Amino acid sequence: MKEHRQKEIQIGSLTLPNRIFYAPLAGCSDYPFRKMTAKYRPGLMYCEMVKMDALVRHDQGTYHLLDFSPDMYPIGAQLCGSKPSIAGQAAKIIENLGFSVVDLNCGCPVDKVTKDGSGSGMLKTPELIGEVLANMVAAVKIPVTVKIRAGWDESQINAEEIVRIAEQAGAQAICVHGRTRMQGYQGPADWEVIKRCKQAATKIAVIANGDIVDGVSAEKAFLETGCDAVLVARGTMGQPWAVEDILCHLSGQEPAIRSLEDCRTALYEHFQFTRRYHQDHRVCVDMRRVGCWYLKKSAGTRQFRELISRASTLQEVNDLILHFPLGEEQPLLN
Ligand SMILES: Cc1cc2nc3c(=O)[nH]c(=O)nc-3n(C[C@H](O)[C@H](O)[C@H](O)COP(=O)(O)O)c2cc1C
Repeated sequence: MKEHRQKEIQIGSLTLPNRIFYAPLAGCSDYPFRKMTAKYRPGLMYCEMVKMDALVRHDQGTYHLLDFSPDMYPIGAQLCGSKPSIAGQAAKIIENLGFSVVDLNCGCPVDKVTKDGSGSGMLKTPELIGEVLANMVAAVKIPVTVKIRAGWDESQINAEEIVRIAEQAGAQAICVHGRTRMQGYQGPADWEVIKRCKQAATKIAVIANGDIVDGVSAEKAFLETGCDAVLVARGTMGQPWAVEDILCHLSGQEPAIRSLEDCRTALYEHFQFTRRYHQDHRVCVDMRRVGCWYLKKSAGTRQFRELISRASTLQEVNDLILHFPLGEEQPLLN
């Protein structure tokens, strides 16, 4: 039983090398982030979501968000939108770009997205989810997946109903984030809902999401929900190796211990990927955030985080990453 969780998984026509997937993260899972995570070979990784409307009108910025390189395979793109009339066309564009999987976002909690009935707004119209998915399925040969939340709020938990609808529409996998839209990203994810979704599924694969950050939580999620795969989201930020650690734990081995120097080296590599891809100003802004991810948990890194989060030049970022004496608290310079 335990071995099964380390094994490959079939999603439609696609064989994925393992069952630990990396989540779409708007504003975070960009090309440099994915370059970094690709080194550790998640079973599947997703790009950040893109709008169907923008894609079908060939908006260049939207295409840019979907840049990927062959080392990122298998890779999924995620569509956000609620119009069945353009869903097939948008999915086809994704397939033509060479993606392994196309996903429908039914989880984004942002008002701007939900107000037109997209993202988690779709949880209120389960039949529409079915219609949009059916059009995507009809348009492409690659597997279609969907990512939902437990429900809109505590009084409207309808994930199981959506599992049945998605399965009927021909989706090959459904990722269930065990929080409601009203919860946003706060509070614990409810894995009971995910368990019920797995029980409701007859052939669609169920991917558990929410609070899965390491080997222990991944094993617990597999055990408690019976899910087919897990999706790691915030746990990938600053831990591109999460999949490696999880697979290690699942096989009964101790995951590698990552020292502060390992984190420094990884952060420097992420910085290099970012420099190669983005303009200087953007690199600086991104590294303020990314720098804090890599050294968030460790003692003696608070000052590093304070300094990098207000760095204003690439030189400053570079010098901080390479030379800041990690692990030793320094007097803050103003
Ligand atoms: C910064 C950020 C951006 C996100 N962007 C997306 C997105 O583009 N598409 C999506 O389906 N979910 C998105 N999510 C939700 C995550 O994929 C995931 O469902 C959620 O964070 C719960 O998992 P976790 O508890 O492991 O973080 C985002 C979450 C965060 C924190």
